[in-house]
Amino acid sequence: MGKRVAVIGAGPSGLAQLRAFQSAAQKGAEIPEVVCFEKQSNWGGLWNYTWRTGLDENGEPVHCSMYRYLWTNGPKEGLEFADYSFEEHFGKQIASYPPRAVMFDYIEGRVSKAGVRDWIRFSTVVRNVDYDAAVGDFTVTVHDLEADTVYKERFDNVIVASGHFSTPNVPEYEGFSTFNGRIVHAHDFRDAREFADKDVLILGSSYSAEDIGSQCWKYGAKTVTTSYRSAPMGFDWPENWEEKPAFQKVQDRTAYFSDGTTKEVDAIILCTGYKHYFNFLPDDLRLKTANRLATADLYKGVAYVHNLKLFYLGMQDQWFTFNMFDAQAWYVRDIIMDRIEVPADKQVLLEDVAQREREEEASGDVKYAIKYQGAYVKELIADTDYPSFDVDGACEAFFEWKAHKAEDIMAFRNHSYKSVITGTMAPAHHTPWKDALDDSMEAYLKN
Ligand SMILES: Cc1cc2nc3c(=O)[nH]c(=O)nc-3n(C[C@H](O)[C@H](O)[C@H](O)COP(=O)(O)OP(=O)(O)OC[C@H]3O[C@@H](n4cnc5c(N)ncnc54)[C@H](O)[C@@H]3O)c2cc1C
Ligand SMILES: NC(=O)c1ccc[n+]([C@@H]2O[C@H](COP(=O)([O-])OP(=O)(O)OC[C@H]3O[C@@H](n4cnc5c(N)ncnc54)[C@H](OP(=O)(O)O)[C@@H]3O)[C@@H](O)[C@H]2O)c1
Repeated sequence: MGKRVAVIGAGPSGLAQLRAFQSAAQKGAEIPEVVCFEKQSNWGGLWNYTWRTGLDENGEPVHCSMYRYLWTNGPKEGLEFADYSFEEHFGKQIASYPPRAVMFDYIEGRVSKAGVRDWIRFSTVVRNVDYDAAVGDFTVTVHDLEADTVYKERFDNVIVASGHFSTPNVPEYEGFSTFNGRIVHAHDFRDAREFADKDVLILGSSYSAEDIGSQCWKYGAKTVTTSYRSAPMGFDWPENWEEKPAFQKVQDRTAYFSDGTTKEVDAIILCTGYKHYFNFLPDDLRLKTANRLATADLYKGVAYVHNLKLFYLGMQDQWFTFNMFDAQAWYVRDIIMDRIEVPADKQVLLEDVAQREREEEASGDVKYAIKYQGAYVKELIADTDYPSFDVDGACEAFFEWKAHKAEDIMAFRNHSYKSVITGTMAPAHHTPWKDALDDSMEAYLKN
């Protein structure tokens, strides 16, 4: 084709993009030259675990926000690749909430099979992207961290797949600077055993708060207190777990809450979310959006309305993940390969974004949100050759998951669901989640 395409990031989204192009090539199409820049020394994005926090071996911010004993927080049946099932990868059906290492193996399996590793320049961080309006292309400046050289290359398209759950949102509260215990953001949380026998305070009421609290509880925290700013999580918590309204300040070891109550705490974990942060992009190319299902400024959730040669993958808040990134990647591929036409009228693009926002805002109901994102996945795959799959079935798995969480928050991971790709029911895991302290791949696959 003669085109050159830069993909920034080799996490699940960037890898979906590589697989999308490779699958077109496999079917005989002429594809652009694709170059993926990845700042880490391996692929997998957030799933490429490291013990490191702060800065990495090259002085770059550590990307990983995952922790040692992380298991998926939703059923794997909701995220399964339509072109590469868990059964194909593991040679058998496996239980529904795999630990991180099992997920990494699965992610890696598909792209190893596709043979796209050579397309990736590892340990190479993108420092800057500039658009040259006169020529109509991008200059991408990168730093090869191993060779310690900075160089520039030109590309016809840029696809940003750098993730948005890595740069922490870190609020400050009164008393933090004089607190005599550990204060850590979820991004830097690694091993729950550090908090055994401790009174732990967690700020936030979303997935990190729920899961990091559960980790601490599982690995022996004395008490867990979670504090919500907007709304409680409202689960039926174990007896040593208390949910409190807004945290106000800490004095010595005493935490104060908006209902006038207090609690003595040893550690504070800020599960206060993440920022969409693109320090390598100038003002005219940088996406500015909240963490929501209908992102700002992205036509069909992927094409940047202010420059249609620039794309973003996976920037939405996520119910669907891997298969949604696939749907997006196949769609972006087809725009770049002139198989899908994007309207030239900017008003039409902006109206597409506005319509998505209106539809998202039409209901605050969780079931509605899951269906909304499912419909988005269906919308994209209808226009490409990504293998169609039972998206409604995946939504059903999410509804069941929600019900199982409401039933028993410390036992929802003991349930299993049916694959919408192979139709096989997952086996029950051999050990209840709360007792499964060894989460290695060998232990998990013993079923
Ligand atoms: C704690 C936690 C747990 C999660 N658990 C689940 C789960 O159980 N199930 C699920 O489906 N999803 C989960 N997620 C959601 C997660 O966002 C997705 O699974 C997935 O990792 C997103 O893929 P991505 O490729 O968009 O981004 P990422 O995985 O963040 O990958 C982005 C990649 O871009 C690279 N990069 C960034 N900046 C640059 C640069 N300037 N130059 C070069 N490379 C760069 C990074 O090194 C990274 O490899 C979780 C997220 C978090 C934070
Ligand atoms: N095991 C797993 O698989 C796992 C574990 C953890 C996370 N994750 C994933 O990671 C992603 C991010 O989840 P997240 O929970 O980190 O982020 P999030 O969903 O964006 O939630 C952020 C939370 O922080 C609160 N908050 C923000 N600023 C605050 C402040 N100044 N003071 C007090 N509270 C504040 C928010 O409260 P308001 O509601 O008031 O804004 C919200 O409860 C999700 O996709 C999730 O699925 C997965």
